[in-house]
Amino acid sequence: MRIALAFAGLLVLTACSTEPTPAWRMGDPEVGHQVARDLCADCHAIERTGDSRNPSAPPLRTVLASYPPEWLATDLHNSQVIALRKMPVFHFGEGHEYDLVAYLLSIQETPPPQPALGPATRP
Ligand code: HEC
Repeated sequence: MRIALAFAGLLVLTACSTEPTPAWRMGDPEVGHQVARDLCADCHAIERTGDSRNPSAPPLRTVLASYPPEWLATDLHNSQVIALRKMPVFHFGEGHEYDLVAYLLSIQETPPPQPALGPATRP
């Protein structure tokens, strides 16, 4: 019995250490910068400085402090509504939502909380 438990513990440990990097962490920030220029810049400031063209749209360098990157990646991926009636719903292909989140992570004024919140803690 004790051996079986030890073996089970070993399996759990192995499973944890080989967990693959989540897709949203594998984006290319350079590509994401271009995606932001194409899709977000009409309303949001997309650089480290400057004002948003639409004054009610927060500069994207501030959004991940309250919208954790994995949630934003998941919501963009699933074409979820992010700001009802104020923002179009996007339909991404080819992982460009992850490129975009990688770019946003690179410009945040306040880094998102670490460790990043998991889906289980989402309200
Ligand atoms: C047509 C204008 C428009 C475009 C284009 C747009 N947004 Fe927005 N977005 C807004 C507005 C306005 C708000 C603020 C909504 C509010 O405060 O209720 C917002 C809010 C947000 C928020 C914060 C939501 C929250 O609940 O904290 C995020 C994140 C965001 N936008 C990301 C993006 C990204 C990424 C893109 C490009 C893929 C994008 N937006 C394109 C208008 C836009």
